[in-house]
Amino acid sequence: MITTKSISAIREQVRAWRIKGETVAFVPTMGNLHLGHLTLIKEARLRADHVIASIFVNPMQFGQNEDLDAYPRTLADDQTALIEAGAELLFTPTPAIIYPKGLDAQTLVEVPLISDQLCGESRPGHFRGVATIVCKLFNIVQPDIAVFGQKDFQQLLVIKTMVEDLSMPIEIVGVETIRETSGLAMSSRNGYLTAAQKQQAAVLKQTLDNMAAELSRGKQLGEVIEAAETAITAAGFKNDYLDIRHAKTFSKAQSSDRELVILVAAYMGDTRLIDNLIVKLP
Ligand code: PAF
Repeated sequence: MITTKSISAIREQVRAWRIKGETVAFVPTMGNLHLGHLTLIKEARLRADHVIASIFVNPMQFGQNEDLDAYPRTLADDQTALIEAGAELLFTPTPAIIYPKGLDAQTLVEVPLISDQLCGESRPGHFRGVATIVCKLFNIVQPDIAVFGQKDFQQLLVIKTMVEDLSMPIEIVGVETIRETSGLAMSSRNGYLTAAQKQQAAVLKQTLDNMAAELSRGKQLGEVIEAAETAITAAGFKNDYLDIRHAKTFSKAQSSDRELVILVAAYMGDTRLIDNLIVKLP
C-alpha cells in the first residue's frame, strides 16, 4: 500500500487505473481504525477493482469544545490494518494541504434541513464540516463508489443528499454497524471509556432493541421514547437526544410509518456516544 499526502499522486494513480477501465472504491476515515472501518474496506474491495482510504482528522467538523487535539492518531497501526484489509492507496493530507487558505476562507458545502437536526443541533456546524471535507475528498479521489458506516446514520444521509443534490456520479454504500459482543457499537470514542463505562454503555443497544420490540407490539411512539430515556438515564448516561424518525425521509416518525430509524446520542462521563437501529414494522 502506498501512503501519500499528495493530491496529484492520488490523481495520477486514479487516472492510470481509469485508463485501464478499472473502478475505484473510496473509504474516507479519521483514522484510529477498528473492525468497523476494516469492514468498510472489505466491502469496498468487493465492489471495485481498487480501494483507496483516507485518514484526515478534519478540524472543520469539530466544535470549539470538542476533542480535536485529543483525537487519537495511530497512523502506523492504521497502515498495518489497512494493508491486511486490502487497501492499495492511503491519502493522509495535512490541514494545510486540505485548507491552504485556512478554515475561514474555505468554500463550504451546506446540506440544508437535515444538517440542523439531532447531531446537527447538538454540534452546530458539524455536518457542514463533514459535507465540505467529503466533497473535497470526492473531488480529489473521484471514486466510482464510496463506503460509509451506518453507525453514523445521519452523516450517511447528509452525504447521500449532497451527492444527489450536486449530481456527483458516485454510488454511496452504507454498511451495517459492527458491534462488540456486548452490543456496543464500535467507535474510536470507545477508547475514552473505562472498562466499567464500556460495560454500562452496552445498555444503549439493549435500549434500542427494547424500543424496536415495543414498536413491533404497537406501543405509541411517545411512550416508547419516554421509557427508553428513563432506561438510559438509569444506566448512568446523560441523554443528548433520543428520537424516532422515518428511515428514508428523516421526518419525525408518525404512527402509520413502517420504516423507522431510532437514533440516540448520550454521554457516558465526558464521552458522547451515538447509535441507531433501523426498524421495519409489518
Ligand atoms: O465518519 C468519519 O470518520 C468522518 O466524519 C468522515 C466521513 C471521514 C469525514 O471526516
